[in-house]
Amino acid sequence: MKSSSLSMFRACFLTTILVSGLARSTSLYTDPKDVPTKEYDFIVVGAGTAGNVIATRLSEDPTKSVLVIEAGIDDTDVLSVHVPFRGFNIEGTSVDWNFTTVPQKELNNRTVPVPRGFVLGGSSSINLMTWTRGSRDLWDHYAKVAGDSGWRWDALEKYWDKASTYLGLNRSTTISTLVPPTSYPALPPPPRNDPTLSNGNGPVLVTRPNFPSELDDKVVNASMLLQQNNPHSRFKYTLDMNTGDSIGFGYSEEATGHGERSSSATAYLHPALNSKRRNLDVLIQTRAMRLLQSKNTALNSTTSNGHSSVPHFNQVEVAQSVDGPRFKFSARNEIILSSGAIGTPQLLLLSGVGPKHELKELGIDIVADRPAVGKNLRDHPMLVTMYKVNSNQTFDDLMRVPALQEQVLEQWQNNRTGLFANTPASMIGFMRLPEDQLKGVQDSASGPHAPHLEMLFLDGFLPLSQPVPANGHFITILNALVAPKSVGSLTLASANGGTFTHPLINYNIYADPFDIQAMLQAINDTETFLSTTPWTQDDFIISVAGRNSTTIGTKEEKVAYMRDNTVTVFHPIGTARMGNKEEDVTDSRLLVRGLKGVRVVDASVFPTLPECHPQAVVYTLAERAADIIKEDHGML
Ligand SMILES: Cc1cc2nc3c(=O)[nH]c(=O)nc-3n(C[C@H](O)[C@H](O)[C@H](O)COP(=O)(O)OP(=O)(O)OC[C@H]3O[C@@H](n4cnc5c(N)ncnc54)[C@H](O)[C@@H]3O)c2cc1C
Ligand SMILES: *[C@@H]1O[C@H](CO)[C@@H](O)[C@H](O)[C@H]1NC(C)=O
Ligand SMILES: *[C@@H]1O[C@H](CO)[C@@H](O)[C@H](O)[C@H]1NC(C)=O
Ligand SMILES: *[C@@H]1O[C@H](CO)[C@@H](O)[C@H](O)[C@H]1NC(C)=O
Ligand SMILES: *[C@@H]1O[C@H](CO)[C@@H](O)[C@H](O)[C@H]1NC(C)=O
Ligand SMILES: *[C@@H]1O[C@H](CO)[C@@H](O)[C@H](O)[C@H]1NC(C)=O
Ligand SMILES: *[C@@H]1O[C@H](CO)[C@@H](O)[C@H](O)[C@H]1NC(C)=O
Ligand SMILES: *[C@@H]1O[C@H](CO)[C@@H](O)[C@H](O)[C@H]1NC(C)=O
Ligand SMILES: *[C@@H]1O[C@H](CO)[C@@H](O)[C@H](O)[C@H]1NC(C)=O
Ligand SMILES: *[C@@H]1O[C@H](CO)[C@@H](O)[C@H](O)[C@H]1NC(C)=O
Repeated sequence: MKSSSLSMFRACFLTTILVSGLARSTSLYTDPKDVPTKEYDFIVVGAGTAGNVIATRLSEDPTKSVLVIEAGIDDTDVLSVHVPFRGFNIEGTSVDWNFTTVPQKELNNRTVPVPRGFVLGGSSSINLMTWTRGSRDLWDHYAKVAGDSGWRWDALEKYWDKASTYLGLNRSTTISTLVPPTSYPALPPPPRNDPTLSNGNGPVLVTRPNFPSELDDKVVNASMLLQQNNPHSRFKYTLDMNTGDSIGFGYSEEATGHGERSSSATAYLHPALNSKRRNLDVLIQTRAMRLLQSKNTALNSTTSNGHSSVPHFNQVEVAQSVDGPRFKFSARNEIILSSGAIGTPQLLLLSGVGPKHELKELGIDIVADRPAVGKNLRDHPMLVTMYKVNSNQTFDDLMRVPALQEQVLEQWQNNRTGLFANTPASMIGFMRLPEDQLKGVQDSASGPHAPHLEMLFLDGFLPLSQPVPANGHFITILNALVAPKSVGSLTLASANGGTFTHPLINYNIYADPFDIQAMLQAINDTETFLSTTPWTQDDFIISVAGRNSTTIGTKEEKVAYMRDNTVTVFHPIGTARMGNKEEDVTDSRLLVRGLKGVRVVDASVFPTLPECHPQAVVYTLAERAADIIKEDHGML
C-alpha cells in the first residue's frame, strides 16, 4: 500500500524530464527488426551492473562486435533514476521488474518485494548507491571456493581501481533552508583513511555523502562513547570501511558524482555509445526468452563417433511481448548472461539447463542436468524500525508536501546541490556477532574482518510498507543480517510465457534459527546504541513508531515484531554459483559447466553473500571477468 503523498512524490519525479548532458545514442535500438545484423561476436544478455562493464570492455576491441539485449527501458529521461535522494522507494515504478517472493513461512506467510532494475544500468540505476567493497576475507573465501587465486582480494586491487574513482569529501554543498545544518563531530571524516588505498581511476564516481544530517554526529559520537567505555566494543568507529576490514560505524560512500547517480549506464554504457563505437549495438525493451543451439543436442545425444557431445548454445531468442514475434541473434564467440540473480537462472531453466526433475515436470526439454541452477538463493534479511523523534529536521515534511519537493528539485536541477544531490543514507555500521554466539557453530561470515550485522540510519520515515504518518517526525533504523544462514531457491512457475512469467522466488527468510538469534542480537544492539547520550539527550527518541515505549519488548515480542517487519535489502545472489566442484554452476572462469559458449557474469555467481552492499563487488567481478573473456578469445 502506498501513501498518496508518496505517489505525488513519485509523480513529481516521473513526469519531469531530465535536463542534462546525456545525449541520446545512435546505436540504441528499441525494435529487434532495426538491429543491423543478426550475428555478433559476443551477445551480452542484460545491460545491468555487470553487463554494461562486459559490453563496454569487450567493445574496446574494434575488431569484435557486441550486442547487448536489455528487457528494460532507457534511463536517460527517467529523472528519479538520476536524482540520488530518490534512491529509495523507486521500486514499483516503470524501472522495476516488480517481483515478489512467495509467502515466507517464518514471516507469517507475508510476501516481500524483490525490486530489480528494469532499465539501462539494471539495479545500479535503482539502488541506494551505498558503496561498500566488502572485506578482504570475502574475496579470499571466494578464491578458495573457486580454486582460483585470481579472485583473491590482493589480486583484484587493480580491478577495483579500474571500476571506480573516489572523488573525496565535498563539504562545499549549499544547504537547503528545509534542513538546517548541524555541527560536525570533532573528528571530521577525512578522505580515505588508508594512504595505501588508491582512489582508483575507473568510470563509476564515488563520494562521501555531502549533505549533513542531524544523525551524523549522533552515530559517530555514540560509537566513540561505547568504545571509550569498552576497548573491545563491537560498536567501534571507523574512518573507512573499504580498506579490507569492513567492521565499524561511520560515514558511508556512495556511487554519486557531482550530485548525480553514477550507474553502470551513466559510467560505462552511455559514454561507450556516445563515443560512437561502431561495434557496439544495444537493443532495449526486448527480453531474451531462451538460449538455443543452432544444432540441437538433446541430453545424452551422441555424435557420429559415439562420444556424447557438449550442448553448444550460440543463439538468443528474443521477444518484445509474450505473444509477439520472436527473433534470433547469434554469437560467434560466446553468450554472456548478465541478467542478475533472478534473470540469469530463469533464462538457464527456460533453456533446459537446470535440475532434471524440475524441468521434466514443467515439460521443458532437458539440455543439461544442472541441479544447482536456481538453488543457493540468498539475500540479507532487513528489519525496518521507525522511531518517533523530537526534531524538526527529518525529511518527513518534505515527503508530505509536494511543493517543498518541487523547491528542492529546482535547486538540484539548477546546480546539482541540496538534499536531493545525495542519498538519504550517510551513516552505516557493520558489526560482528558477540563471540559467545559463535561458539560451537560455524561462523557464517567469510572471516574475522567480515561482519554479521549492519545498521543503517535514515533521518525520516521510510515508507516501505506503510505511508508516512500525517503528523510527527521520525527516523528509521535498518538492521540487516549480512551473513545469514538461511538459503532459498528460485524455480519456474511455469514453462509458459517465458521471461514474461515471474519465477517463484523463495528466500526462506529466518528458516535457520541462527538468523532469528542474530536478529535478536541486532535488536539488542540497537537498544544499546540508542541508550547513549547522543540519542537520549533532549529526549530525542520519543518511542518506537506506533508504540508507547522506546524499546520493542520481551524476547517473544521481539520475535513477533521481526516476523511482521522484516523485508530484505534487495541483494539476491547465488543462483548460478561459482565453485571448483562439478556440481557448481560455473567454474572459476565463470563458464557454465556442461555447456559450451555460455558464461555468467553477475551477482548470481557469488557462492555466499557479500557481507556488504554488493554493487562494488559486482563491478569488481565484472572487470576481472572482462579480462578473462578477452584472454580466452585472444583479445589481451
Ligand atoms: C532497490 C535496491 C537497492 C539496492 N541498494 C544497494 C546499495 O545501496 N548498494 C549496493 O551496493 N547494492 C545495492 N543493491 C544491490 C545491487 O544493486 C545489485 O546487487 C547489483 O546491481 C546486481 O547487479 P547484476 O549485474 O547482478 O544485476 P542487475 O544490475 O540487476 O542487472 C540485470 C539486468 O538484466 C536485465 N534482464 C534480466 N532478465 C532479462 C532478460 N530475460 N532479457 C533481457 N534483459 C534481462 C535486467 O533488466 C537488468 O538490467 C540494491 C538493489 C536494489 C534493487
Ligand atoms: C512495474 O510496475 C510499474 C507500475 O505499475 C509499471 O510501470 C512497470 O512497467 C512494471 N514493470 C514491468 C517489468 O512490467
Ligand atoms: C502459512 O501457510 C501455510 C500453508 O498454506 C499454512 O499451513 C500455515 O498455517 C500458514 N501460517 C500462518 C502463520 O498463517
Ligand atoms: C564540490 O562542490 C563544488 C561546489 O558545489 C563543485 O564545484 C564541485 O564539483 C564538487 N565536487 C565534487 C567532487 O562533487
Ligand atoms: C545420461 O547418460 C548417463 C549414462 O548413460 C546416465 O547415467 C545419465 O542418467 C543420463 N542423464 C540423463 C539426464 O538422462
Ligand atoms: C518543532 O516545531 C514546533 C512548531 O514550530 C515547535 O513547537 C517545537 O519546539 C519544535 N521542536 C524542535 C525539537 O525544534
Ligand atoms: C545552487 O542553487 C541554489 C538555488 O537553487 C542557490 O541557492 C545556491 O547558492 C546554488 N549553489 C551553488 C553552489 O551554486
Ligand atoms: C537481549 O537483551 C535481553 C535483556 O537485556 C536479554 O535477556 C537477552 O538475552 C538479550 N538477547 C540477546 C540475543 O543477546
Ligand atoms: C558530538 O561530539 C562533539 C565533540 O565532543 C560535540 O561537539 C557534539 O555536540 C556531539 N554531538 C552529539 C549529537 O552528541
Ligand atoms: C499507549 O498508552 C496509552 C495510555 O497508557 C494507551 O491508552 C494506549 O493504548 C497505548 N498505545 C499503544 C499503541 O500501546
